[in-house]
Amino acid sequence: MKERIEELLQEIEQLTAQKMQDIEEYRIKLLGKKGSVTKLFEDFREILPEQKREFGQKLNALKQAAAAKLEELKEKLEENPEQGAAKFDYTKPGDRFDLGTRHPISVTREEIISIFSKFGYAVAEGPEIEDDWHVFGALNFPPEHPARDMQDTFFISQGDGENPILLRTHTSSVQVRSMEKMPLPIRIICPGRVFRNEAISARAHCIFHQVEGLYIDKNVSFADLKQAILLFAKEMFGEDSKIRLRPSYFPFTEPSAEVDVSCNICKGKGCNICKGTGWLEIMGCGMVDPNVLEASGIDSKEYSGFAFGMGVERIAMLKWQVKDLRHYFENDVRFLREFETVV
Ligand code: PHE
Repeated sequence: MKERIEELLQEIEQLTAQKMQDIEEYRIKLLGKKGSVTKLFEDFREILPEQKREFGQKLNALKQAAAAKLEELKEKLEENPEQGAAKFDYTKPGDRFDLGTRHPISVTREEIISIFSKFGYAVAEGPEIEDDWHVFGALNFPPEHPARDMQDTFFISQGDGENPILLRTHTSSVQVRSMEKMPLPIRIICPGRVFRNEAISARAHCIFHQVEGLYIDKNVSFADLKQAILLFAKEMFGEDSKIRLRPSYFPFTEPSAEVDVSCNICKGKGCNICKGTGWLEIMGCGMVDPNVLEASGIDSKEYSGFAFGMGVERIAMLKWQVKDLRHYFENDVRFLREFETVV
């Protein structure tokens, strides 16, 4: 027992602490329920009566020495918390600090918004659960008209019978709401989630994101539309981008067009992304149909405007050459990490 006491005394003498936690660990090791000093007190019970006096004193002294040392270490640390840091190896490589990254769809949406903000467009938002009037009626889709089949719709309820409630199939509904209440001229973009009852595949999903735009003023012309889209394409896909417009059909615009941008991968020479054509389809657009202006109470003799709409997933796929749309919704970190350097 004598040696054990000596041993412990020496051990205690040499204790050093970097942090408070070390001191707590020593306390448990020495004075805790199963600590080595506590254990000696248990052994003490077995000792011969004539030796009790001598060892009793020694043991008490040991216990006091332990308590005093712990107290001393504690005071030192409190006085000078840096002391622990002095032993820190600053040359060690740092621990990786895992920050989340923004989702590529958010990054793309923000980029589109920031480009149009520079052109003076304000952001407008509206409800995802909409009524038939704002998604179709006010946009010149007559009831039962086959044009409604262009966008397979999730209906929620019959509403009042005249105006069913549904999930918006495009953010053009936000443009209608803006035309109803905003003072003219209007220059807005409408980012948001849209819903279509489509089978999920590499190229289609039942939920996706759009940014649509609307500009209404006196004397807005098709040339203005073309210029706005050309500037957008250059900002988004590079200064040497070109655009071409192909005639198309939307009930709410007349004339209507589909916009292609020159393939940013092969620079128009033809590759597998643009399927050898040198062009990539990026959006629909057109001059707002006078019926649409009138439906929202705007005088179509005095005002004209253009509108355009694009899918954020599609733009992001083209920009980063992602071949399967489903990656954007599965949240596989191996995919998302590829964008760490982009964001
Ligand atoms: N709303 C159309 C769609 O979702 C896109 C579009 C907007 C086309 C504006 C022309 C003008 O398909």
